[in-house]
Amino acid sequence: MRTQVAIIGGGPSGLLLGQLLHKAGIDTVILERQSRAHVLGRIRAGVLEAGLVGLMNEAGVGARLQRESFLHHGTNIAYPGGVFHLDFKELIDQHVTVYGQTELTRDLYEARDRSELLTLHECDGVTLCDIETKNPFVEFVQDGKSKRLDCDIIAGCDGFHGPSRQAIPKAKRREFEKVYPFGWLGILSETPPVDDELIYANSDKGFALCSMRNPALSRYYVQCDLSDSPDDWSDDRFWDALKQRIPKAAAERLVTGPSIEKSIAPLRSFVCEPMQWGRLFLCGDAAHIVPPTGAKGLNTAASDVHYLWQALLAFYEEHDETGLNTYSDTALRRVWKTQRFSWYMTRLLHHFPDLSEFDLKVQRAELAHLAENRAAQVALAQNYVGLPY
Ligand code: APR
Ligand code: PHB
Repeated sequence: MRTQVAIIGGGPSGLLLGQLLHKAGIDTVILERQSRAHVLGRIRAGVLEAGLVGLMNEAGVGARLQRESFLHHGTNIAYPGGVFHLDFKELIDQHVTVYGQTELTRDLYEARDRSELLTLHECDGVTLCDIETKNPFVEFVQDGKSKRLDCDIIAGCDGFHGPSRQAIPKAKRREFEKVYPFGWLGILSETPPVDDELIYANSDKGFALCSMRNPALSRYYVQCDLSDSPDDWSDDRFWDALKQRIPKAAAERLVTGPSIEKSIAPLRSFVCEPMQWGRLFLCGDAAHIVPPTGAKGLNTAASDVHYLWQALLAFYEEHDETGLNTYSDTALRRVWKTQRFSWYMTRLLHHFPDLSEFDLKVQRAELAHLAENRAAQVALAQNYVGLPY
């Protein structure tokens, strides 16, 4: 089997890259470890930057997103001193788009099917070979048979636990990590969202977030201990904790109901440098992880995909390898800015067990400054809606 670009990982990064390359007549094969149903069963954030929406439209996959998504022109931040609204439109004349990531992934799969592109599921033992040559290849097992995919380029879109990052020699990899001392307990409930926009809440009891998927499907989170498991949290315990952490007016109008999904996610910041090695290029979670506080996971994967897509266009159309040779530095410049913002939002909004009295005072002062200072609000809004590619 042979293709131009072998994409390892059939998540949002791999699928979006595959569709953009297809539009340019560049052939790809996607090797995915899980079944499609498993991939589409993942519940993940749905706040899209304009850059990602633009890439979906460029890939010809934006129709349902345009029809069914919601524009959010601002967000709410609550803290013990009160609650304030960040009006993105008034501050910077921009917005974010709310559309479930599961739906975005589904749209990309359906577009790939329509394009009759090859996506191989349930691939085991994916091994990257000869990545330092101009003829790399991937070995894998599918349906019990050993197979080989020859290619020009390997795009490592296989997430944090995939093999691509590990294919970069350990002595050449620099990995930066920060693990946070708490997790997010999230639920989905078939109830109307508590507000038209999101509410990020810093409370004495810990962080909470009120989000949504559509007018009848809400997504809520509360900060929890890393030792917790979802079984420790009955629905009643969850709703009580949420009500104690969000503004009183929101708590009073909150519509509760049975959770249809409940899970705990640990929070970490992680970056691998470089993001390329020979003919291997990492995109998305394969190269970096952010805490979800700034909704930057998928959106930073999108900017990686944008840079690699542009570099591959130049490589195939003009035989120009400049973009490929500078991909890692280009992508990392924006990756570190989203890392900073995600760390900032996490530090601003959570209760850290080891926070000193002084640190707590500084955190409160930062929130009070944000509540009253336009320049600070503009800076946060610019980062939240998405920095330019
Ligand atoms: N072989 C093949 N596929 C693999 C392997 C492997 N050994 N290991 C992992 N994968 C697949 C996973 O099953 C998954 O479908 O790679 C895919 C990686 O997808 P994501 O983890 O979703 O990462 P990415 O596509 O970069 O998405 C980035 O979007 O998923 C959200 O917010 C999330 O930050 C994340 C962002
Ligand atoms: C979500 O809707 O799941 C979501 C929204 C914003 C975030 C994180 C998660 O910052």
